[in-house]
Amino acid sequence: MPTVLVLNGPNLGRLGSREPDVYGSADLDALRAELTATAPAGWTIDLRQTDDEGELIGWLHEAADSGAPVILNPAAFTHYSYGLRDAAALVTKPGGTLIEVHLSNPHARETFRHTSVISGVASGVIAGFGFDSYRLALLQVVGSS
Ligand code: DQA
Repeated sequence: MPTVLVLNGPNLGRLGSREPDVYGSADLDALRAELTATAPAGWTIDLRQTDDEGELIGWLHEAADSGAPVILNPAAFTHYSYGLRDAAALVTKPGGTLIEVHLSNPHARETFRHTSVISGVASGVIAGFGFDSYRLALLQVVGSS
């Protein structure tokens, strides 16, 4: 049964109450429900969130070992975590799929958000469409499998 790992970085556990003007007022449980409803029958959505860089890197190692496609919102790690970048490359360099997603459009925000150290090793990037960023990434994953 194909599994898609939907991995979320720091502070995304606060979705729903965190800056709703930027990130919306729905939480991760609502995102999980929306992605589960979008996934074709037989696909599993394994959505996780952590504030811990090492834990997120460990989950990417898991994807590198299993070959599971990844939808990754690296949150603030996007902008500076070379450790996360190297772990993302472990997924994509051998041919695996990792799509970087963002709820907001970081390029329309503060200058420090304009840099992503992840994009260069991602299969693709979708940003600015709220939960639809994840949904579009999922449609790409299932469509290309
Ligand atoms: C974010 C954008 C990042 O700049 C920010 O640090 C986040 C969320 C987004 O989904 O729009 O935490 O990744």
